[in-house]
Amino acid sequence: MRERALALVLGALLLMGAQVESAEGQTRLIMEFQAPPVVSAFIEDPTFVTGFFGPLGCAKTTAGVMKSWGYGQVYPGARILVSRVTWPALRDTTQKAYFEWLRPGVLSHYEATTKTLWVPHPKGAPVEILFRALDDAADISNVLSLDLAAAHLDEPQGGVSTKEDGSLEHQPGLKKDLFDAILGRLGRQRGYPGMVWLTGNPPSPTHWIATEFDYEPGESGCDPPRNRKEDFRLYLGTQETNRHNLPPGYYERLSRLYGRDTPMARRFIYGLWIDFASEKPFKLADIEVYGDEGGIVLPGGLIVEAGVDPAISKKDTAATTAIVVAGQCRRGSEKGRIFELFHEEGHWSPYETVDHMLKTQRQWKVRIWRIEDVAYQRALGDTLEHEARLAGLHVNVDLVQPDADKIRRANAWSPMVEDATILFRDRQSALVKAMLAIPQNVRAWNLVDAAGICFRGFPRIQPEMSRLPEFEHQPTRAASYATRSASAVAEEPVVAPASPSQFRPGPFGRTAGPRRAAGYAVRPRSSR
Ligand SMILES: Nc1ncnc2c1ncn2[C@@H]1O[C@H](COP(=O)(O)OP(=O)(O)OP(=O)(O)O)[C@@H](O)[C@H]1O
Ligand SMILES: [Mg+2]
Repeated sequence: MRERALALVLGALLLMGAQVESAEGQTRLIMEFQAPPVVSAFIEDPTFVTGFFGPLGCAKTTAGVMKSWGYGQVYPGARILVSRVTWPALRDTTQKAYFEWLRPGVLSHYEATTKTLWVPHPKGAPVEILFRALDDAADISNVLSLDLAAAHLDEPQGGVSTKEDGSLEHQPGLKKDLFDAILGRLGRQRGYPGMVWLTGNPPSPTHWIATEFDYEPGESGCDPPRNRKEDFRLYLGTQETNRHNLPPGYYERLSRLYGRDTPMARRFIYGLWIDFASEKPFKLADIEVYGDEGGIVLPGGLIVEAGVDPAISKKDTAATTAIVVAGQCRRGSEKGRIFELFHEEGHWSPYETVDHMLKTQRQWKVRIWRIEDVAYQRALGDTLEHEARLAGLHVNVDLVQPDADKIRRANAWSPMVEDATILFRDRQSALVKAMLAIPQNVRAWNLVDAAGICFRGFPRIQPEMSRLPEFEHQPTRAASYATRSASAVAEEPVVAPASPSQFRPGPFGRTAGPRRAAGYAVRPRSSR
């Protein structure tokens, strides 16, 4: 009933616009807002999580602004969070749109020190709109201790995005468990129904946003949402949604710049939910590390498994064999995370390959060896088992069928890198360099394939939900979420963070802690 009331009131308000007089009583300003049908449906929808995604310029941010405004009109005194992942993007785009519509100094008052926009209400307490970036430890910890009514998350999908001047840049996305943590803060302001609205360009169909909305874009890349989940409703904008408010020829000019059938055009001009990564599966900005740089200490008790991509022929000097070893954490605060432990690559004969594998077995106690089933080295598994037995070691071998499409293979695990389920030892390592070099550098594929064989074999395990309360009310812990062993804590000097960039939100909502003394992470010399 209440939700229905909200929809009706919001609808009525949007039709009316707002009439406001300035302090001097001289200016009479009418804020007129004519919403296209999909925009008003999105704005008026009182579902817990709503989303409005579509091509550039289809009024996504504006729709989010109006939803904040409408919510505040229905619920005076509401505390509404407005976030984008980085502060520059928040300030230059989302906040700008809020200012454009809610005019600080005329319709509202902006308090720069607290990054709060106060929007007066004709009958009740002013609405409090809090601008918070989600790549800043202080902001994250502040957000996660707030009692919020609602939240507007602009461009939460990250990935390539456009700057104001039309140029492109890579933006980090909102991590799924930070989103989950934010959900826990909504409706915490007493008497206010919790709600969150997400606005942005379409992410890839495997992105957590698509999964949360249970959205299947289908062959068209933008099939109508079926909205089967009670608490989630998705709306899609098109070029037509807001064309009349854009400069003439806006999309046509973009087409000339981006091309007709490029991933850029498909995502940004046509609003399709496509795998943008299909051209370059990995980006440096997505690579998260553990140890000294990453702030997360390698936990003990990992389930260690390995992947091997054997050279496909003897003659081809370009063909190398690659080994990648990783461990999955099955318990505690890092549960589900996969830690890359070791990798190497070389021109080896099958016997040399077995020799390298045995050495690796001794060092890492590999539980399962996954080996790509290559005709030339079909005997590799048997030879390994035989040699291992002679050496008094026990090994398990799994033969993995090759997947014809290399790009598809890499795309199958690139989301696990993007959401930092997989953490790497070192951003400068041969493996990371190979990941960044594909698909252009064909020689880089062996290591990447071995890594895929290794990583993809682990089950996907949900992180411990019990971790989320760590976010709450603990501003001082923001710099040090990472679990440490008692000895590590004892060794580590308490260092203040040097710059906010050290607080990049970590995968499971964690932030990287201050640099720590070298030597916590296991770094076998042989692999460096
Ligand atoms: N109902 C409306 N009436 C008038 N102008 C509007 C309306 N909706 C949107 N606009 C204008 O259209 C332009 C694009 O809107 P907006 O920035 O919200 O789109 P967007 O989809 O968020 O764009 P981007 O993809 O660049 O983030 C802006 O200049 C905005 O002020
Ligand atoms: Mg926008």
